[in-house]
Amino acid sequence: MREIVARAHGKVNLHLGVGEAREDGFHELVTVFQSLDLHDTLSLLVDDDVEVREGSIVSDLTVTGLDARYVPCNPTNLAWQGVDKLVDAYRARGLESAPSVRIHIRKGIPTAGGMAGGSADAAAALVATQALLSDYLPPLDPADLDALAGELGSDVPFTLRGGTMLGTGRGEQLTHMLSRGQYHWALVFSKKGLSTPRVFGHLDELRAQGRDLPPSLDTTELSKALMSGSPEQLAPLLVNDLQAAAVSLRSDIARTLKLGQQAGALAAIVSGSGPTCAFLCSSELHARDLLDDLLAEGLYSGAVAHGPTKGAYVLD
Ligand code: C5P
Repeated sequence: MREIVARAHGKVNLHLGVGEAREDGFHELVTVFQSLDLHDTLSLLVDDDVEVREGSIVSDLTVTGLDARYVPCNPTNLAWQGVDKLVDAYRARGLESAPSVRIHIRKGIPTAGGMAGGSADAAAALVATQALLSDYLPPLDPADLDALAGELGSDVPFTLRGGTMLGTGRGEQLTHMLSRGQYHWALVFSKKGLSTPRVFGHLDELRAQGRDLPPSLDTTELSKALMSGSPEQLAPLLVNDLQAAAVSLRSDIARTLKLGQQAGALAAIVSGSGPTCAFLCSSELHARDLLDDLLAEGLYSGAVAHGPTKGAYVLD
């Protein structure tokens, strides 16, 4: 039994501008992603004695770690789908057989938390499977791998690449952004996740009811602040159009954000579609102190994280 181990990181959206719903149900986004060092680790346990010629090469999937009980251990899991998708792409290029694998995921990113945990698992699955199949065929063109990632989910291309990127379309069309320095965050998780489609749908409802929630589409000032490397300059520019919808669905989020502001965060935002709250801090020490204060107030759990960091990669 061989083991291929890959890692992929969670993210926070520094800017999440949400436009109209499109005909395909997705919303047009203008978003700035920053990858954080909070990560999931995926292992492919490879059984070289079993050659699979058709269908899925995955025989089993297990999950441990943060929120593991909420993660599906079946072919609907994005990591399982990632393996299948890459194998199919290789089969289209002539791959005849591949060894059977079991997937194990160790979670550090909250599930349904607005931090792209499932997408990170898919990205880790793509790079791990690519490493497995490198014995048979050369790697896919990076643009083709990005396209496969985009088919798996809107955030998968970003979790594959990492860093600081502008995302447009449904978030899958990426452009590198310049960013200086490291940013320190205190993250507060929730006991219960939030469904991303539900939060997008609720924003549509609030807008239809006439709530003044215009799309935030301009990232000019944010990109200047990122070049300064100063968290104090970045803090007032953080924007999340999904925040009003997430707060309206879950009153505990408003309380968490308020507690973070009162405890001295430079900025308090919902991460993605929530319910994770992200507090920008001036240093790692500040982030640790802030998190301690918030957990002492009885908030559920959390972590200190910094970004930007890298995309999905295979561990030696
Ligand atoms: O792409 P992904 O599967 O992560 O998206 C999950 C859901 O989030 C979509 O089915 C859709 O309801 C919502 N979404 C959206 N607009 C986006 C991205 C996601 O409405 N740009």
